[in-house]
Amino acid sequence: MCGIIGILGQTPVAPLLVDALKRLEYRGYDSAGIATLEDGSIERLRAEGKLRNLEAKLAASRKLGRTGIGHTRWATHGAPTERNAHPHATERLAVVHNGIIENFRELRTELEAKGRRFVSDTDTEVVAHLVTVAIEEGLSPHAAVAAVLPRLTGAFALAFVFDGEEDLLIGARRGSPLAIGFGTSEMFLGSDAIALGPFTDEITYLDDGDHVVLTRAGAAIFDESGAAVTRAIVRSQGATYVADKGNHRHFMVKEIHEQPEVVGHTLAHYLDLARGEARAPEGIDFAKVDRLSITACGTAYYAGSVARYWFEQIARLPVDIDIASEFRYREQPLAPGGLSMVISQSGETADTLASLRYARAEGQKIAAVVNVRESTIAREADVVLPLLAGPEIGVASTKAFTAQLAVLAATAIAAGKARGVLSSDAEAHLVRAFSEVPRLMHEALKLDAQIEALARELSKVRHCLYLGRGTSYPIALEGALKLKEISYIHAEGYAAGELKHGPIALIDEEMPVVVIAPHDRLFEKTVSNMQEVAARGGRIILITDKAGRDAAAIDAIETLVLPEMPSSVTPLVYAIPVQLLAYHTAVIMGTDVDQPRNLAKSVTVE
Ligand code: AGP
Repeated sequence: MCGIIGILGQTPVAPLLVDALKRLEYRGYDSAGIATLEDGSIERLRAEGKLRNLEAKLAASRKLGRTGIGHTRWATHGAPTERNAHPHATERLAVVHNGIIENFRELRTELEAKGRRFVSDTDTEVVAHLVTVAIEEGLSPHAAVAAVLPRLTGAFALAFVFDGEEDLLIGARRGSPLAIGFGTSEMFLGSDAIALGPFTDEITYLDDGDHVVLTRAGAAIFDESGAAVTRAIVRSQGATYVADKGNHRHFMVKEIHEQPEVVGHTLAHYLDLARGEARAPEGIDFAKVDRLSITACGTAYYAGSVARYWFEQIARLPVDIDIASEFRYREQPLAPGGLSMVISQSGETADTLASLRYARAEGQKIAAVVNVRESTIAREADVVLPLLAGPEIGVASTKAFTAQLAVLAATAIAAGKARGVLSSDAEAHLVRAFSEVPRLMHEALKLDAQIEALARELSKVRHCLYLGRGTSYPIALEGALKLKEISYIHAEGYAAGELKHGPIALIDEEMPVVVIAPHDRLFEKTVSNMQEVAARGGRIILITDKAGRDAAAIDAIETLVLPEMPSSVTPLVYAIPVQLLAYHTAVIMGTDVDQPRNLAKSVTVE
């Protein structure tokens, strides 16, 4: 999962390539590089680490070219060093790659036997050599690429430039996304519309298995069989996107503060707030659905885990939920005609996409809850339930999480109505409760200063536990994920009642335990679990409401008090303090909050 850009331009392209890579950095950022054509020959510039290192090298370079490709990397094969950074090149060409060439070992052995010398540890370099060998055997660049593609197994998006070919760019995709951008006597290739945004809003998404030959005059597209095909040109929304932190220090905190607005906007799309009704999602007849299967990864999986409670409680619809990377290997038989829901901010997560395809092969209708509407998952789904969260740049997902919750809650209400298990009164009651969420989130954000002070304590610890019951359990899991991914403090979330079955052995005076406990019907039981922690010296951070604070009678090191609210909406509001706690802890610890180590925003490899 890396970012790719290619430009056949009219002006110097090197700075444009680097600018486009900035917009792709969410896909990976452990090294970056560009290759441009200077008087017909390929010039490469690569740097280990963040893009600013490449920018510094570019500032000292005069190699600007009018034709070029660029890449920002999330390492899969080979350490994130300059030697392994893309583009990879031979005497004939340079190539950038997103994905994994699974049979690279066999191919490398074969090529080495032919005398080809490898200089990196990557899987990508075999592609450069295979195409080079084909060209040396007499094929044109296009024929050489077309001959090599069937030899590659795995998922990939590729972009090539060729020595001596100022008016040629070749792209190919299988599994990983790749889009063509149309300019005026200029052509572009990019991993997504965001990368191409400043250049053009006329985009064509390649289909799986396609490859494309670009010249400044246009694009010739070929499908997997090699036949010339046409693909639709669409107008992209990504074109209007500008990455801007506003007055905030990090994208993450900006996105945390955007949540009342984002969630309000999303809820207004799915709920008729004036009439107190949920709008039926177009294309899904919940009256005919008797089991729902949900798959997702990471934070999106936790959103799905909250939704399971909603679908089961509000709509009386049984839900199976799976981590996408496990789902298809479980080989669960799915009743034909059933409904499968995938949840993904990026819409490009490889594991989630593979789950979608498994479910489709099992005869399921696919509903996708996605933020990026032009993503592969959105395009392959039968029904798209968009998030309306706007671009999320921080690697740690925040506003996409609560927007996912908003979509899922509204869909559960609509399902309850369609299934005849929710009266109009109960529906109106729920819709009213959710309409209060933006205001409640706004109140939750006022805890910011208190949480920042608390984060000073948390930043001194090495381990931390999060507990919750009911829908607060996935929020505990999400809180622990947020803390570990950006502060690198080891954190685990547990169902509060599960603690006594093992993890309680971890409790001592050093162990902070964040307890998420709104004063709901499960509160008393969670208090008992807190007592068990307190009795063993654990340091409790309690997140509750006023009634909970008064009833808890526990000596917490800190109590964060949220407004009282119906229990149906607590996951959306209680997400905010756990996000802020992780954020402030990470800032105090001095980590790279928006681009934490080893991660990428969009995980397009399995
Ligand atoms: C969340 O903070 C993550 N960085 C990560 O768990 C993410 O939610 C996961 O990779 C799924 O991404 P997606 O929503 O784009 O599919």
